[in-house]
Amino acid sequence: MSDKKKLGRATRLVHMGRNHADHPAFVNPPLERGSTVLFPTVAMRNATRERPFDQVLSYGLKGGPTHFHLEDAIAEIEGGTRCQIVSTGLAAVTTALFAYVKNGRHGLFPDTVYGPTRNFLTGMGTDCGMEFTFYPPDIDEAGLRALMRDNTTMIYCESPGSHTMEMQDVPMLSRIAKDVGVKLVMDNTWGFSLFAPFEHGVDCSIQAATKYIGGHSDVMLGAITTNSDSDYERVRTVSTSLGHFASPDDCWLALRGLRTLNVRLRAHMQAGLRVAGWLREQPEVAQVLHPGLPDTPGHEIWKRDFTGACGLFSVELTPDYSYDDMVAMIDGLQLFGIGASWGGYESLVLPVTGAITRTADQKSAERLMFRLHIGLEDTDDLIADLKNGLKLLQQHAAKR
Ligand SMILES: Cc1ncc(COP(=O)(O)O)c(C=O)c1O
Repeated sequence: MSDKKKLGRATRLVHMGRNHADHPAFVNPPLERGSTVLFPTVAMRNATRERPFDQVLSYGLKGGPTHFHLEDAIAEIEGGTRCQIVSTGLAAVTTALFAYVKNGRHGLFPDTVYGPTRNFLTGMGTDCGMEFTFYPPDIDEAGLRALMRDNTTMIYCESPGSHTMEMQDVPMLSRIAKDVGVKLVMDNTWGFSLFAPFEHGVDCSIQAATKYIGGHSDVMLGAITTNSDSDYERVRTVSTSLGHFASPDDCWLALRGLRTLNVRLRAHMQAGLRVAGWLREQPEVAQVLHPGLPDTPGHEIWKRDFTGACGLFSVELTPDYSYDDMVAMIDGLQLFGIGASWGGYESLVLPVTGAITRTADQKSAERLMFRLHIGLEDTDDLIADLKNGLKLLQQHAAKR
C-alpha cells in the first residue's frame, strides 16, 4: 500500500494499523500486554533509551505493539503523522494543554468547549499558572485577533461545540494562528473521520476514542494526533512525564471498533438526520441544532468542511415548557438511555439545561435543551418513542 492517501476512508479503516506480515495467523493483530521489557544485553536496552520518540519496546509505560497499531491507525485517519494514546478523552485534552500552554502562557478557548475542559482550566489549569480567555465560537477574525496577548501560545477549538453545537470556522482560526505564530489545537471528537484537521490547518487534534472509535460504550481512551516531529515530541514528553497509559485491552477493542466505523457512522448519520428532521417539524420544538440541517446555524461551514455527520445533536424546546416538563418527557422515553458518553450503538438522551456554562456569550446558557445521541436501533421505533415523549411533555405542562 504505497499510496495510502489515494484509498477511500472505508478501505483505510479496514487496513490501517495491522501489519499482516507481523502476525500471519489471524486477521486481527494479537493483544499484547506487558510492563517489563527484557533485553538480551545492556547495550540493546540503552539503545532504546536513546530513541524516546520512536515506536520501540522499552518499558510498559512507553507503549507496546497494540498501542502502536492503534496509534498508527488513528494518525492515518486523522491525516497526521504520529499519535499518542492516553487513558481517556479528557486526558488527551489535558495532555495537549500542558504541551501547548504551560505556566504563564495564555490560550484562547471557545465558550462552547467540553465542560470538563473548562473545569480543568478554571481549576487545576489555573493552579498550574495557565491563563485563558473564552471567546464566542462564532467570533470573527478581528475579534479573535483582538483577544491575542503577548503570551498567547495556542488557539483551541471544538466544532461543533459541546451541547449547543456551534460550528467553528477552522480555516479562519488556522490563518490567524499561522499569522501570529501560535498553535491551533482542536477537539475533533465529533468529526473523527468526517473532518480532516490537518488539511484545515490544525497542529494537534484530540480524540475521545471512548466515543465512536470504541463504538460499543465499553472502552475509555484518548488520542492526540500531530503532524510534525516537534509537535509530537511536545505531546509525547508531557504524556510520558505524567505517566499516562492506556490498557492494551482497550486499545485492542478500539482497533476492532475502527474496522466498522464507516458503516456505523453512516447509519448514525442517516438515522440522526431523519430524527432531527422529524423533530424540527414538531410544534413543541423551537430549534434542532444539527449542523447537517440546512436551517441550523453553521450548516454552511459543515457543508464546506465536513464529509458527514455523526448521531449527536441537540434540541431546544419552545418557552411554553419548563425544565420539569422536559424531565417528565425524558424519564418517559423507553428506548433512549439517560447517559452522557455518546458514540455507542444505543440511543441516549440528556437534559443539558443547567449543565451549560457560557461566560463570553450568554445567549445559549438559559435555553431549555436536551441532547440526543441517535444509535443503531430502527429509526421508526425511535421516532415513535419521541412522539410519545412529546405527549408526556404536553401532559406535564397541562397539569401546571
Ligand atoms: C467533545 C468531547 N471531548 C472530550 C470528551 C472526553 O472524553 P472521555 O469521556 O473519554 O474522557 C468528551 C466526552 O464526552 C467529549 O464529548
